[in-house]
Amino acid sequence: MAAIESVLNEARVFEPSAEQMARASIGGMDAYRALVDEAARDYEGFWSRLAKQHLSWHKPFTRGLDESNAPFYTWFADGQLNASYNCLDRHVEAGLGERTAIIFERDDGEVQRVSYRELLARVCRLANALRARGVRKGDRVVIYMPMSVEGVVAMQACARIGATHSVVFGGFSSKSLNERLIDAQAVAVITADEQVRGGKRLPLKSIVDEALGMGGTEAVAQVIVYQRTGGDVTWQAGRDVWLHDVVADQADTAEPEWVDAEHPLFILYTSGSTGKPKGVQHSTAGYLLWAELTMRWTFDLRPESDVFWCTADIGWITGHTYICYGPTAAGGTQVMFEGVPTYPNAGRFWEMIQRHQVTVFYTAPTAIRSLIKAADADEAIHPRRYDLSSLRILGTVGEPINPEAWIWYHEQVGGGRCPVVDTFWQTETGGHMITPLPGATPLVPGSCTLPLPGIMAAVVDETGQDVPNGQGGILVVKRPWPAMLRTVWGNPERYKSGYFPAELGGNLYLAGDGAVRNDKTGYFTIMGRIDDVLNVSGHRMGTMEIESALVAHELVAEAAVVGRPDETTGEAIVAFVVLKRSRPEGAEAKQIADQLRAWVGKEIGPIAKPRDIRFGDNLPKTRSGKIMRRLLRGLAKGEQVTQDTSTLENPAILDQLGEAI
Ligand code: PRX
Repeated sequence: MAAIESVLNEARVFEPSAEQMARASIGGMDAYRALVDEAARDYEGFWSRLAKQHLSWHKPFTRGLDESNAPFYTWFADGQLNASYNCLDRHVEAGLGERTAIIFERDDGEVQRVSYRELLARVCRLANALRARGVRKGDRVVIYMPMSVEGVVAMQACARIGATHSVVFGGFSSKSLNERLIDAQAVAVITADEQVRGGKRLPLKSIVDEALGMGGTEAVAQVIVYQRTGGDVTWQAGRDVWLHDVVADQADTAEPEWVDAEHPLFILYTSGSTGKPKGVQHSTAGYLLWAELTMRWTFDLRPESDVFWCTADIGWITGHTYICYGPTAAGGTQVMFEGVPTYPNAGRFWEMIQRHQVTVFYTAPTAIRSLIKAADADEAIHPRRYDLSSLRILGTVGEPINPEAWIWYHEQVGGGRCPVVDTFWQTETGGHMITPLPGATPLVPGSCTLPLPGIMAAVVDETGQDVPNGQGGILVVKRPWPAMLRTVWGNPERYKSGYFPAELGGNLYLAGDGAVRNDKTGYFTIMGRIDDVLNVSGHRMGTMEIESALVAHELVAEAAVVGRPDETTGEAIVAFVVLKRSRPEGAEAKQIADQLRAWVGKEIGPIAKPRDIRFGDNLPKTRSGKIMRRLLRGLAKGEQVTQDTSTLENPAILDQLGEAI
């Protein structure tokens, strides 16, 4: 709460410079307001105009928004197009084939440049191979790949043949991968032998083998393996094939599959407050429109001169929209990085910005905060030791940024001259929702400022009524927008009840975050999730997911997971655990905690491992048996319990649970 207080009282305002206004694609607040007004006057016409201008259609659409089956909205539904055509062919056809699409830097520093012509050829070869091997339009292909050009090629090749990809982040465990393979009913997996991060080789193929060995994945007929390291892999003849073998004799051209605007481009699993991760399903046209447009609006991308770098992984939505689809749809040049920000030292980002003359840089607050610490500790890797003069715009995403980190980023990285765009959005929203526009929006550290034109964001109370500015509430979006998710894969009911809850009237999109608008400027400040979703280093995780992983361990009787504010990672996971046996103490407690952490790493993935595990004889419950999470959150922060605990069945356990191991 202290962090939110400091944001709400933030008095520093950074106005755009005249030069920024002059060059920006939406220069100045008047231009911004004109677009906002256009959307308010003729909502459907506004979006249709943009969809015609920014996408290349095989068959033009004749209608914009269809709300007849709300909340299953459709956009541009009778139009046809292909995402990979829009990202690649149209630039090559426009004579831009020699432009660099991707500057790929490996973990060890080796650099590869891939032109649009080359990228298109590689996508076509894999598209042909997939077709030859029986993958058809509408089939689901799971991609479990390292950060690599091949990862982007795999995604675009699926899009080219109309197969729906589902990228699973390379840090998820075999169990998580298995669950996603089953839920998506995937027919093929594209993976790599190993990935390389921070000088270490980490397995991928063997995890795929394990995931397929767990069963339920009989539909997976083939595993295509990109050879990244040449490390040992076990091979199942008939199922496993090398990527370089299957593309070897394929042609460089492949006719795109023209799909309907609403055809599912991809499914991406994300955590919710209940149950298993859900497959967020995105459309082709609406999604791609927003990927392209936000590149131009939020990042003011000049494809002919900018070098864009988004440091996200392709396994997350940010890597989908701002690596695979947005920069390419806009015809820009981007840096893509295999490794981690701290290898060989914590100056790696700054060194790479200098080396590749990056102009627009997009990263997560967690990375900034850890690099601040590193720079404070070692002057040799401080950003001021690098030439960062190429930078002109900085962005952040994934979690709230505290004003101190914002100011450091602005001054130390951006030299005080680059606007910082704090972009609020979600897996479900497809692209940016609330964000400053460089050259237009006056910036306030810690606030994501105002919604993009066409995004009808608002703050409401529990009944769906608007709350006055200055008063906190629930963040909603009042009108369907083209890039929004279309459904939860295989679970339309969960889509409907989860995102358009009846309590709010059934027609407001519920983001799941709390927000407050400044009473003078109307600027939004995001106050964090209002459900049981944690945000650790910008990674989204459900407390229920971690709890079910813990109780699946043979020693565990009961578990409750909460978040604790953390200076670097935003939130840290704290688990309160009751064992089936007596409460462990001392060295034994530590040993069991380590065992449970490793277990969660296996069940979900290393990112879900609790930072802190505490054991009690019981959990604090009300007489009616409800776990008192608010109390646990206080204990996790090391606070003294001041609230009334008279309803607690057994107040004595609070002392046990307050004790860190
Ligand atoms: O809580 C919000 C937070 O991240 C959540 C979405 O997570 P995910 O779907 O994984 O997407 C992350 C990348 C878009 C949101 O519900 N969040 C995201 N961006 C911001 C943010 N919180 C505050 N400020 C942001 N800029």
